[in-house]
Amino acid sequence: MNEILSGAKKFSGRLSVPGDKSISHRALMFSAVARGTSVIRGLSGGRDVASTTGCLRSLGVEISAGEPDTVTVRGVGKNGLRRPVGELDAGNSGTTIRLLSGILAGQDFPTRISGDRYLCQRPMGRIIEPLERMGARISAQAGGKPPLTIDGGGLEGIRYSLPVASAQVKSCVLLAGLYARGRTTVAEKVASRDHTERLLSLFGVEVRKAGLEVSLEGGAELEAAEVRVPGDPSSAAFFAAAAAILSGGEVRIDNLCLNPTRAAFFEVLEKMGASVKRMNERSQAGEPVADLLVGSGKLTGCRVDGAILPSLIDEVPVLAVVASQAEGLTRICEASELRVKETDRLKAVHENLTRMGAVVRELPDGLEIEGPVRLKGARLESYGDHRIAMAFAVAALAAEGETLIEDAGCADISFPGFFPLLRELSGLAR
Ligand code: S3P
Repeated sequence: MNEILSGAKKFSGRLSVPGDKSISHRALMFSAVARGTSVIRGLSGGRDVASTTGCLRSLGVEISAGEPDTVTVRGVGKNGLRRPVGELDAGNSGTTIRLLSGILAGQDFPTRISGDRYLCQRPMGRIIEPLERMGARISAQAGGKPPLTIDGGGLEGIRYSLPVASAQVKSCVLLAGLYARGRTTVAEKVASRDHTERLLSLFGVEVRKAGLEVSLEGGAELEAAEVRVPGDPSSAAFFAAAAAILSGGEVRIDNLCLNPTRAAFFEVLEKMGASVKRMNERSQAGEPVADLLVGSGKLTGCRVDGAILPSLIDEVPVLAVVASQAEGLTRICEASELRVKETDRLKAVHENLTRMGAVVRELPDGLEIEGPVRLKGARLESYGDHRIAMAFAVAALAAEGETLIEDAGCADISFPGFFPLLRELSGLAR
């Protein structure tokens, strides 16, 4: 499905966004292997999270939908999963395949897990290596790509230093650690999102943190919990960005997860000159939550690298769009992880911004953008990547003339209803 958008004269309103995708995946998986029945409210309705639901059902877990965005999960206990018939399908979801592989490595039956053509191009060596060190036997396609065949059981705890900053790898090893003998420790060089640690605690697992190290004991059991998933900051980022770059823009986004390992995009936006206010700060599901007010301002370029990157890694495409509207140079480096996301996001952003007339250079590990430039409407590709489709929908609002985004339906992967909501706030006809 293609989307056509034109420049917006306004951008304002109050909204909420779907439940956080990372927390939704974890809430489903932890509920599935917990003892007792869990209720999850505010679950993301995106296709990625539906892939996790589908895999868990194939593993014998009963998941029933109730009110909108609410599900009840009948936990089967840590060792109650059933051998699935056929292959598990993780769809487009890296979090599904990487986290679930940690759990599958602990099972005494073999499984095969695969995904769509984009997921089948993504590197899984980063989870295969530690899982094999723990004792699992895993086979993959050339280059460590899916489908994966996992022959698990008999795991031993390890101490693992993450070679790349990745919450998916950290979480995979910790989940396998729940099934291992002895203690499992993961050490990071820079902090990645810590939803696994927070949510495991909510499910009654003792998780020890010491600086950038996190450990747990094998044999720990999970107990059912009630989880209210807060709004996804990565989905909110598109609306915050549009408000920041469009003259007179202002949005209020309710009930957002503002975990410091996720919320750096809003800090950078404020540093660039947008107005950003947090209201009603509170805690929900062990996560810091607030309502956020974002308004336009005179923006200046900035430098983004180092330890802050993991906390805004999924927001880099829309940050690059914001940078095209900011005065001076924005330099984003040490971001080569973006090359192995749903698509090569550095290449995709460079290509699309160039087509819109921005001044942008692709670096081996990042992007340089010089602004401000009046963007021109263009024909763009989403590359099947939800965040590329949504980032360039925001760019389209700031452009002169019409922009066509090919295959924009992939926004549903994390944000069903994104385009109607964007149109509503910008006063554009459907
Ligand atoms: C995620 C971790 C990040 C992020 C992804 C979701 C998670 O990936 O990009 O969208 O839920 O743990 P990496 O672990 O590969 O950095």
